[in-house]
This record gives sequence, structure tokens and C-alpha cells, in this order.
Amino acid sequence: MSCSLRPVGRAHRARLEQLTRGTGLFREEEVATAVELLDESLAGDDDYQFVGAFEADRLVGYACWGATPGTVATSDLYWIVVDHARQGGGIGSQLLTEVERQLMADGRRLVVVETSSRADYTPTRRFYETRGYTRTATIPGYYAPGDDLVIYTKDLSTGDLARAAP
Ligand SMILES: CC(C)(COP(=O)(O)OP(=O)(O)OC[C@H]1O[C@@H](n2cnc3c(N)ncnc32)[C@H](O)[C@@H]1OP(=O)(O)O)[C@@H](O)C(=O)NCCC(=O)NCCS
Repeated sequence: MSCSLRPVGRAHRARLEQLTRGTGLFREEEVATAVELLDESLAGDDDYQFVGAFEADRLVGYACWGATPGTVATSDLYWIVVDHARQGGGIGSQLLTEVERQLMADGRRLVVVETSSRADYTPTRRFYETRGYTRTATIPGYYAPGDDLVIYTKDLSTGDLARAAP
């Protein structure tokens, strides 16, 4: 069953924090950053855009993206998170497709995603790889010794949206 996609409001702030923490992947300072970006977006900062996936009125996932400063039409996907209990059910694909659709509508050209080389991010990397993202660069030891920064990119000019999971 697909979720409805709509903006994330102030009323969903605590739930967004809970979802982000509930993945078990992010450090507390990263969780705090996700909430800060929502606050900035709600305060009218266009650098950060959010879309939420909702089951009825319950937030079950979200994505956050924005224009990459100093580039010509490149955008960063900063966050994509799905409720731990609902992962693997197509919500992440639905969110990613919507982000790409909005980016294309805004004339954006390239999407950049940063993630980690850690073993617990293996399903996350597979998620991007099977949705048209290319592993473009690695910075060894970036996050911590043995924890590399892995950068994925996708060229939106081909017009291929991330496929939705069946
Ligand atoms: C990555 C994430 C957003 C994907 O959302 P999702 O709703 O689980 O993804 P979908 O159901 O649309 O797609 C599942 C695909 O993603 C991969 N995947 C990633 N995490 C998964 C998980 N926990 N369970 C099942 N599949 C997962 C699978 O390889 C699957 O691929 P397939 O469809 O080719 O079999 C979500 O799993 C998540 O929130 N993970 C934790 C947070 C995270 O890593 N965010 C990205 C930070 S860089």
C-alpha cells in the first residue's frame, strides 16, 4: 500500500526525531542535525526541503534535500529515513522517486548522496545502487578509522526516476 506524500509540519517534529533515532544507524549529533534542518526549513529556509510519507496522519518516513551551494543545479539528498518496522516495503522508493520528480521539475541536474562504508549501511548502499545511483567517490577513514565516506551520484538529465518497489 502506498503512503500519501506531503510536507512535514511542525506537528511531526518529535516523530521525525523518533524515526531518525529508531533506525539505529545515526549518532545522536546526526539525529539532532536532522531536526535542526527541519526547524530551518519550517522557519522558511529554502536550502532544505522536506517531504514526508504518511499512513493516515502518522509520519512513517521522510526525505530532505537541497541545492548544493556553489554549484550549477546540483542538489544534495541529505536525509532519507523510513520507520524501522516498515523498511523494505517500498516507502523509501516512493520518497526517492518524489524527490527526483521535484528536482527534475525544478531543473536540477545532478543528485549527490553521502553515506558510509560500514557494514550496517550495506542495505542502504544497495538501495541507492538499484535505483540508478553510481558509487562515484570514496574518502577512506572520513567518518572514523575504517568508516569511509561513500558518495553516490545520479544524473537526472537521463529522465530515469528511481523505480518504485513492487
Ligand atoms: C534506506 C531506506 C531509506 C530505504 O527505504 P525502504 O522503504 O526500506 O526501501 P524500499 O522498500 O523502497 O526498497 C527496499 C530496497 O532497499 C534496500 N534496503 C535498504 N534498507 C533496507 C531494509 N532495512 N530492509 C529491506 N530492504 C532494505 C533493499 O536492498 C531493497 O532493495 P530491492 O527493492 O532491490 O530488493 C530505509 O531502509 C532506511 O530508512 N534505512 C535506514 C536509514 C538510512 O540508511 N538512510 C539513508 C542514509 S544515507
